[in-house]
Amino acid sequence: MKIGILTSGGDCPGLNAVIRGAVLKGIASHGHEFVGFLDGWRGVVEGDIIDIPRALVRGIAKQGGTILGTSRTNPFDNGGSPEVIRAHMRRLGIDAIIAIGGEGTLAAAKRLTDAGLKIVGVPKTVDNDLDATDYTFGFDTAVQIATEAIDRLRTTGESHHRCIIAEVMGRHVGWIALHAGMAAGAHAILIPEQKTSIEQITQWVQDANARGRAPLVVVAEGFVPEHLDSAHSERGLDTSGRPRLGGIADQLAPTLEARTGIETRATILGHIQRGGVPSAFDRVLATRLGMAAIDSVVDGAWGTMVALKGTEIARVRFEQALGRLKTVPQSRYDEAAVLFG
Ligand code: F6P
Repeated sequence: MKIGILTSGGDCPGLNAVIRGAVLKGIASHGHEFVGFLDGWRGVVEGDIIDIPRALVRGIAKQGGTILGTSRTNPFDNGGSPEVIRAHMRRLGIDAIIAIGGEGTLAAAKRLTDAGLKIVGVPKTVDNDLDATDYTFGFDTAVQIATEAIDRLRTTGESHHRCIIAEVMGRHVGWIALHAGMAAGAHAILIPEQKTSIEQITQWVQDANARGRAPLVVVAEGFVPEHLDSAHSERGLDTSGRPRLGGIADQLAPTLEARTGIETRATILGHIQRGGVPSAFDRVLATRLGMAAIDSVVDGAWGTMVALKGTEIARVRFEQALGRLKTVPQSRYDEAAVLFG
């Protein structure tokens, strides 16, 4: 078989490990051939491909980013359609597609599979917000990067006796904030799942300060303070119509400084959380998922994605995987909140 691989949506540490896992297993076990679509669905819609011989994936499990490039292109926009894609696949001799992506990518993959295209999915997102898989690769690395950065912010906060607000990614879920905040010993963790009042945050900051600590607040980009209706967004919508988040830390800093009298600084960690070398956990997970995607192709399990369930790799239908966010449960927040202030 000739299999086309694409990486789509926001990049994520571990994408290259998936590609390597799929290609090595596909060649070793089945003699498959591989091509890569460039820049996500753009390459699929335009038939823009490169060959992926074994040599191209040599040593790439530890490389950040994606050797195929990515984009947030929607395959149903800009002249894309199942017919156009089917015609490219026929012309290029491609039998099946492995789509590596997050919710947007998998939703598009579902529509295309419903139209008869042969696609299997591999979930990826640093946000860890896909309900059908216990963990997505990229999350562990993002948490590690955020934790290291917050540890550094903490030492400068302590030197200056300042309050530090560190903003992390995560879109509408608080997993990165919860894990990095716990790991770094934050005095408050603010997540989208828990509306929290400015009075409460002020109290936590003051309590930490009263014990002689430099207060450390970790806030998820999607956090919504109690007095507001939606997450802070000042950069419009992305190609899937979702608000681009970011900047809540800059909003909170002057408010908390005015209320507490403690000099306060905000740092938005941004895309540094998605860059660079994937952790060992993410490399292993990504490699296993890539290899399992080959099994799905061989079995003709179109319309499914591979997922981590406990320690095993399972198959989940796209419709089961989509539409439900994996949010931080109340119990996980309550557990962390015991240590706030
Ligand atoms: O979904 C991953 C993510 O990094 C989110 O945490 C963040 O809100 C978004 O992507 C940023 O997207 P972009 O890279 O398009 O700015």
